Order: sequence, then C-alpha cells, then structure tokens
Amino acid sequence: MEVVICDDNERVGRTAATLIAEVVSRRGPASVLGVATGSSPLTTYAALADLVTTGRLDLSRAHAFALDEYVGLGAGHPQSYHSVIRRHVIEPLRMDPGRVHVPDGTASDLDQACLEYEHAIADAGGVDIQILGVGTNGHIGFNEPSSSLASRTRVKTLTQRTREDNRRFFDSLDDVPTHCLTQGLGTIMDARAVVLVATGAHKADAVAAVVEGPVTARRPGSVLQFHPNATIVVDEEAASRLELADYYRHVWAVKPRQTVAP
Ligand code: F6R
Repeated sequence: MEVVICDDNERVGRTAATLIAEVVSRRGPASVLGVATGSSPLTTYAALADLVTTGRLDLSRAHAFALDEYVGLGAGHPQSYHSVIRRHVIEPLRMDPGRVHVPDGTASDLDQACLEYEHAIADAGGVDIQILGVGTNGHIGFNEPSSSLASRTRVKTLTQRTREDNRRFFDSLDDVPTHCLTQGLGTIMDARAVVLVATGAHKADAVAAVVEGPVTARRPGSVLQFHPNATIVVDEEAASRLELADYYRHVWAVKPRQTVAP
C-alpha cells in the first residue's frame, strides 16, 4: 500500500488523475475504469477533465463501471448515480455513454441485475484502475461494516450513518434511499489497481483504520491492505491520525519517480 500525503484537495485530485492517466497510457485507449461517486473524487475528475480538454488524455474508447447505485432511484433522478456519473464523469471526461455502466437500482429482479453487472465487468476484461472514496465508517463502495471481505455485487442496506452523511444531496433524510446495489469487496479487490482518495478531518479516523488498522469487516476498506497495487491519496487533514505519516512522507520524498508533487 502506498500512501501519498498532499497539501490540499486539488493536489489530491491531480495526483490521482496522473496515476489513472498512466494506467490508461499503459493499458491502451480501451482501458476499464472503476468510478466512484460522492464528493471525494470530484477534484480527480476535474483534473482528468483538464487532461482530456487539453488533449493529453483520450477516454472516448475507455469503459467505466460505477461502484454503486441507490435502489429505487431512476436514471432521471438528479441524485441517482446514473445522473451523477453522467454529470461528473461521462460529460466532462468526454466518455462514450454506451461504454459507461451503472448498476440498475430499478430492476424488477435486483439479484439478477447484480449478477449481470458482475458479468459485464468480466466481459470488459476486468477493471484496470478503480477509483474509491471512503465513508466515515470505513466503507468502500457501499460495503457497510460487517460486509463479507469476499462479497460480490449485491443489494445492501445502508447504515443510518451513511444515510445521514449523504443527506446533504437530498431534501430530507427521509428522501435518502435505504438500500443500494454495490460492487462487493471481492469485486473491488479484483481491480488491477485501486486509488483511494480522501480529504478532510472527518475522514481521518476512516483513513487510519483502512491503512493502519487491523483488516476487519468492521472497517471494510481495510481489506485493501491485501491489494497488491493500492494507492491511498489524502490531504493533510485526512492523514492527521496516521501513526506512520512521517514514514509515508519520507517514502515519497526519496521515491525515484514521483507521480506529481504533493
Ligand atoms: C460512492 C461510494 C462511497 C463514497 C463514500 C465517501 O460511489 O461508493 O463509498 O466514496 O461514501 O463519500 P464522499 O466522497 O461523498 O465523502
């Protein structure tokens, strides 16, 4: 696990975007991205959009798979992840909407929709790089505490804490869905590389648990300690509870080839 501590959120985004662009340049134009929603990856998407609009990155033939979707929100709902991915990923990154996939939270058979989503990821050749945020409770995707570390895409019940955290996107707490479809921890672990971005003091506990805590379903993101190619990109506030922060800074400072300067 590599931990990169950046001065601010903008640099977090630029560092993650550079990593992603390197993967695309290695894997080719039809690379497969795993994409997260929420606030954390917004600076990453903005930095990727900058690379695209200045002609340094072409994602028009790339594929993307979203991590999750709320159950019961149609693609037209402004807070459905279909809409969020269209606004923050497809349009600014000039991706082909036909190659960008989001689980179907309105399917009549949700279990079947989850199975088909797993097949679609496999048919695309698997995810080359998965972008992740982390919940304040340590979830990645919507794999809430107690999720199986081997789980696949499935229906999950959101914790009250996650619903409260996401209430800011809705008119009231009652409007926040209670259920979602989410890629499982096993699904996420199949990605060839993962980059988790986190900023702000409210993420410091979760980041410390993911990076330095015991691997436990109580903090699902800690499973990334088993991933052979995981990069955690955080700002100073999100890094504030990392016991080994000085070591991570030293590793970065003496690294022969840095991605971008924090
Ligand atoms: C979103 C997702 C979640 C979020 C997490 C953090 O697709 O899977 O794991 O990344 O809830 O959300 P923000 O970034 O809004 O703090």
